Amino acid sequence: MKIAYADPPYIGYSRYYKDDPNCAEVDHNELMAMMCREYDAWALSCYTNSLKTILGYPSCPEDVRIGAWIKPFCSWKPNQRIVYAWEPVIFWNPRQKVGKEVSVRDWISANMTMEKGLMGAKPIKVCYWLFEVLGAEAGDIFTDLYPGTGIVTRAWENWNNQMSVKNLPMFESALTQHAPDAAKAAAQKGVLRKNRSGKRAGVA
Ligand SMILES: C[S@@+](CC[C@H](N)C(=O)[O-])C[C@H]1O[C@@H](n2cnc3c(N)ncnc32)[C@H](O)[C@@H]1O
Repeated sequence: MKIAYADPPYIGYSRYYKDDPNCAEVDHNELMAMMCREYDAWALSCYTNSLKTILGYPSCPEDVRIGAWIKPFCSWKPNQRIVYAWEPVIFWNPRQKVGKEVSVRDWISANMTMEKGLMGAKPIKVCYWLFEVLGAEAGDIFTDLYPGTGIVTRAWENWNNQMSVKNLPMFESALTQHAPDAAKAAAQKGVLRKNRSGKRAGVA
C-alpha cells in the first residue's frame, strides 16, 4: 500500500516557516486531489479553524474520518480564552483489518513537542498512532510530504524495521491505552497474543 502523510503549514500560517525556501501557502484542495490520485491511503494534519474549509473542498472524499491529536500540555496564548488543545487529523482509506488485530482509537493523547527547532514537530507517539490508524504494515511505501524535522520518516523507519510497534516499549502503553478493556479482559483470562515478529507477548 502507498501511504502519504501531509503536515503542511496551517492555512494562512505559512509565514511561520519563512526560513524555509519552499515556504508558501499550500492549496489543500490540490493537495488532497493529488493524494487521492497518487496514494492508496493518506492522513492530513490541520487546524481546528480550517477543518470546515478543508472538508468543504471538492477534492475531499466523502468517506474521510477525523482523528484527533489531543494535547494535554500545549501552548497557552494570552487573550485566548478557549485554548487550542487538539489538532484534527483527516484520514482516508485506511487498510481494513479484521479478526484478531488490536483496535485503535481515533484519537491519541500526547504533549506538544518543545525545543525541536520547528513549530509543529510531531511527537513520536503521534507518528506511531498515525501508522496504526492507517493500518500500515511493514513493507508499505510511506511518504512524508512535509518532513520538517524528519521525525515522522524516522519513526516510520523504526516502526518498519522492528516489524511491530508492539516491540517498542514506548508504544506499549499507547496500545493498552487504545483498548484498555479488551487488554484487561484478555490479561484476566491469561490470553497471550503473538506479535508480528512471532514472539509471544502479554497484551496488558
Ligand atoms: C508543520 S511543519 C511539518 C512538521 C513535521 N511533520 C515534523 O513533525 O517535524 C510544515 C513544514 O512544511 C514546510 N513548508 C512550508 N511551506 C511549504 C510548501 N509550500 N511546500 C513544502 N513544504 C513547505 C515548512 O518549512 C515546515 O518544515
